[in-house]
Amino acid sequence: MKFDTPATTNPIDQLKIVGKPIDRIDGPLKTTGQAPYAYEQNQEVSGVAYGYVVGSTIAKGRIISIDTEAARAASGVISIVTAETAGPLGLGSMNTAKLLGGPEIDHYHQAIAVVVAETFEQARAAAQKVKVRYAKAVGKFDLVAERANAKLTNEGRGERLTGDFRTAYAAAPHQLDEVYRTPDQAHAMMEPHASMAKWEGDKLTLWTANQMIDWGRGDVAKTLGIPKASVRLISPYIGGGFGGKLFVRSDAVLAALGARAAKRPVKIALPRAFIFNNTTHRPATIQRIRIGCTPDGKITAIGHETWSGNLPGGKPENATQQTQFMYAGPNRMTATRLAVLDLPEGNAMRAPGEAPGLMALEIAMDEMAEKLGIDPVEFRIINDVQVDPNAPERPYSQRQLIKCLRDGAAHFGWSKRSAVPGKSRDGRWLVGMGVGAGYRGNPVAKSAARVRLDAAGKVTVETDMTDIGTGSYTIIAQTAAEMMGVPIDKVIVRLGDSDFPVSAGSGGQWGANSSTSGVYAACVKLREAVCKAVGFDASKAQFADGRVAVGKKSLSLGEAVGPKGLVAEDAIEFGDLSKKYLQSTFAAHFVEVGVDAATAEIRVRRMLAVCAAGRIINPKSARSQVIGAMTMGVGGAIMEELAVDTRHGFFVNHDLAGYEVPVHGDIPHQDVIFLDEEDPISSPMKARGIGELGLCGVSAAIANAIYNATGVRVRDYPLTLDKLI
Ligand code: MOS
Repeated sequence: MKFDTPATTNPIDQLKIVGKPIDRIDGPLKTTGQAPYAYEQNQEVSGVAYGYVVGSTIAKGRIISIDTEAARAASGVISIVTAETAGPLGLGSMNTAKLLGGPEIDHYHQAIAVVVAETFEQARAAAQKVKVRYAKAVGKFDLVAERANAKLTNEGRGERLTGDFRTAYAAAPHQLDEVYRTPDQAHAMMEPHASMAKWEGDKLTLWTANQMIDWGRGDVAKTLGIPKASVRLISPYIGGGFGGKLFVRSDAVLAALGARAAKRPVKIALPRAFIFNNTTHRPATIQRIRIGCTPDGKITAIGHETWSGNLPGGKPENATQQTQFMYAGPNRMTATRLAVLDLPEGNAMRAPGEAPGLMALEIAMDEMAEKLGIDPVEFRIINDVQVDPNAPERPYSQRQLIKCLRDGAAHFGWSKRSAVPGKSRDGRWLVGMGVGAGYRGNPVAKSAARVRLDAAGKVTVETDMTDIGTGSYTIIAQTAAEMMGVPIDKVIVRLGDSDFPVSAGSGGQWGANSSTSGVYAACVKLREAVCKAVGFDASKAQFADGRVAVGKKSLSLGEAVGPKGLVAEDAIEFGDLSKKYLQSTFAAHFVEVGVDAATAEIRVRRMLAVCAAGRIINPKSARSQVIGAMTMGVGGAIMEELAVDTRHGFFVNHDLAGYEVPVHGDIPHQDVIFLDEEDPISSPMKARGIGELGLCGVSAAIANAIYNATGVRVRDYPLTLDKLI
């Protein structure tokens, strides 16, 4: 089904089930430990052997030799695979460095061998006996040192100019020109990367933890040099992804290679201390922002340049993404530059682009507001736009950022904030409030589903969409229940299997809106098939209470479809929607912090997010997403940082003891408000994405609150207490 804008009234708009805060239908399975993750998927597989991955202990250079003799002789060892013995391997389209390296080494802890043994312990013990000799090469590991060698990239349109930024900035009566830094960050999801591989002839089945089944299937095939049709990926439950599982990683490829060599099914979980340097991370950025303003607060010139590094062939962190579109200003310049660094691969981490971009931009907006003597909420409102500021003929599908800011300010008690920093005290705590606006694109992607209606009136939905802890099972069930007129407990949802129709997958906060729209399209087709089977006019038929009716004629769905049932499959396609409309999601984040006047210990006290993201399909799962994202924003603001060893080229703090993320004790009062919206341009669901919006703008709101509390402006994340003293 091609989506035609604007969406007309359709059965979803009844909102009997969609739009309701329904508990996650996978909740009991997850909380009782019965939802099997990839590493636990051995019910139907016998004779499983265990793989342990050996990683490179240099960051750049060559392997001179690998001596596996002692490892092979160790007890329980079945086989050992290295690049030498694996046969030719390709590079997946979504991978930057080879998932089995050698002889060239691209980064520290790049996988160079897998040891397969009868037990996990035997594999681990034998892996220690693999002896590797390296010829080390000089690598580049320091973004600050490589900044001058960075090149413009096409990502973020390279250098994008609208109007005449340089002249307008030079002429502006009020100017801001500051540099901000964000560190390398790790996804640090709960479930480690894990896979189990099983070969039947030349057919491979991989149980794995992956956000994007079809991408993963394609890349496994490409890496192993086998047809895509010979690969099946199964990933029904995933313990968090955050972008780290958008792409297949070494666990998947090495499980497949290990299983082929051992002629046994093989499972591999990457140890936590290996994940930080073996898989991907969010690259560090340096960002320079210039804003020129009139005395009454109108932006006349806005410039945002960003520098990040990656392995050769890798992508930049596109931190200027939001600055191209977010605020008014006739003269604009954004530039995205990329340096070569030989650190582990940088790639997408939750809200790539906007999350670190807003960490800089929303501090800059706070600083400019202060220079102008204008309240920071008002300053953002003055510079609101309703169209693409680079192309006024392209409107936003819907943009209520002003309402987010105004409602948030009223709800949070913003009027009590002192405009002068360091003026508010609660005992030993210096107290401050900060605001940050949130902005995150709303991409849409083709998404297919198959829906079956059986003689018992049950609806089964199948799509390769994943649920990474986000609530996909539940919102897909809600969509099918609403469309087919059945209670939600009559819907069975089956996800995360490449045997099912190809969905949008979970990434870039496009999953919820796109995948439910795909289920909607399949349900429209199924309704038509049901009507055709019983001779009803589909345009007049009502589906409700497990029945289909036209006028006085009414049949139960089971009767209507007969003993064999009926099945329909379709996909939603969005055409050139995003060319005609700028689609985004908006938030206003308000934060109150306390900073200890003597020790500078920082405590977040209160947080509020007001979000505008079209129709909210399930306010309970959406709220959980936003609260989780706000929590990650606390990590980004005051804790999270991968420490780079610039001599040896690796992340030093590669476990959850050294890489700090917030825990329950750090989480203050968190509140989320969703604006009551429907976006008829975005999809037949009239929803937009929400998963990543909650992170966008939070960290800057915290930084601004710390400034308001203390009068100390820090532009280098994370804002640890040493930077305040
Ligand atoms: Mo998201 S970083 O696209 O999983």
